[in-house]
Amino acid sequence: MKPQMEVTVAGIRLRNPVLAASGTFGYGIEFEEIVSLDRIGGFVTKGLSREPMAGNAAPRIIETAAGMMNAIGLQNVGVKAFIEKKLPQLRKYSCAVIANVFGYEIEDYLAVIEALNAAEGMAAYELNASCPNTKHGGQVFGTDAGLLGELVTRAKAVSKRPLFVKLSPNVTSISEMARAAEQAGADALSLVNTFVALSIDIKTRRPRIANITGGLSGPAIRPIAVRMVWEAAKAVKIPIIGLGGITTPEDAVEFMLAGATAVQVGTASYADPRAVEHIATGLERWCARNHVERVSDLTGKLDTSPQPAQG
Ligand SMILES: Cc1cc2nc3c(=O)[nH]c(=O)nc-3n(C[C@H](O)[C@H](O)[C@H](O)COP(=O)(O)O)c2cc1C
Repeated sequence: MKPQMEVTVAGIRLRNPVLAASGTFGYGIEFEEIVSLDRIGGFVTKGLSREPMAGNAAPRIIETAAGMMNAIGLQNVGVKAFIEKKLPQLRKYSCAVIANVFGYEIEDYLAVIEALNAAEGMAAYELNASCPNTKHGGQVFGTDAGLLGELVTRAKAVSKRPLFVKLSPNVTSISEMARAAEQAGADALSLVNTFVALSIDIKTRRPRIANITGGLSGPAIRPIAVRMVWEAAKAVKIPIIGLGGITTPEDAVEFMLAGATAVQVGTASYADPRAVEHIATGLERWCARNHVERVSDLTGKLDTSPQPAQG
């Protein structure tokens, strides 16, 4: 029996629940000869800003134990070039294209969304709330429930497409942030983004990344990300897209049991550029082997009842 792999997130039907994460899959077209885009649920673009951005100085990516750190600095072609040069090439594929949006002031986010509203070929927007707000002395949108609520309310008011809000994990209470985003009108949540981290070269006594700190991703963060998805899922009713260190189909199952409706794969694409496709096809095989008729049946099925006594 073939398992039913389709899932629906905020009204968007995805062929399967496995998407490529923002910043690790370019604008999709860079991967069209490597990955069968028609076999994955979709992908999230590199973060798009109002104007093109060059990003931070090198070194800006390093490998760490069970993961990597990056401080790319949100380098991107800018929303105008994305719409004119990248988006038209994606029309031939049936997977969902989700545009990741960021800015340093709320007006920047709104300008990107308004530009995207006028274009065809995207299923949803994903707001990256992990950016420092220049009007609020660098306070990160996603670490202040009030600022997050204001950003989401205003973004939702102008958005013509479903709005996913990507939460920062660098907070004390992910449930509070999840609730703030839901109350402000988010249609779905993506979590988590990277964890702020520091790695030091002890010979030179200098930071190993030019930006000093960077964002930690990959398998090292997975159990924390799974815990955050579980906590957020208990706090809100809107669907959750879980990510953080997913490398195998079994990792994706873990996130779904914790409460995710769909998942994203980021860092794994650096080791294996076909990771997203492998995880999507592997998840279908896992469901068939484990007699899971519909992949959506996994969502939130973590069993926390007391363990039976041993022996
Ligand atoms: C090199 C790199 C660039 C990233 N760029 C973005 C970005 O532009 N926007 C965003 O929301 N997240 C960005 N992320 C975060 C990832 O989408 C993802 O949330 C995070 O890496 C955790 O998932 P993973 O462990 O599967 O990589 C980036 C991550 C990496 C490694």
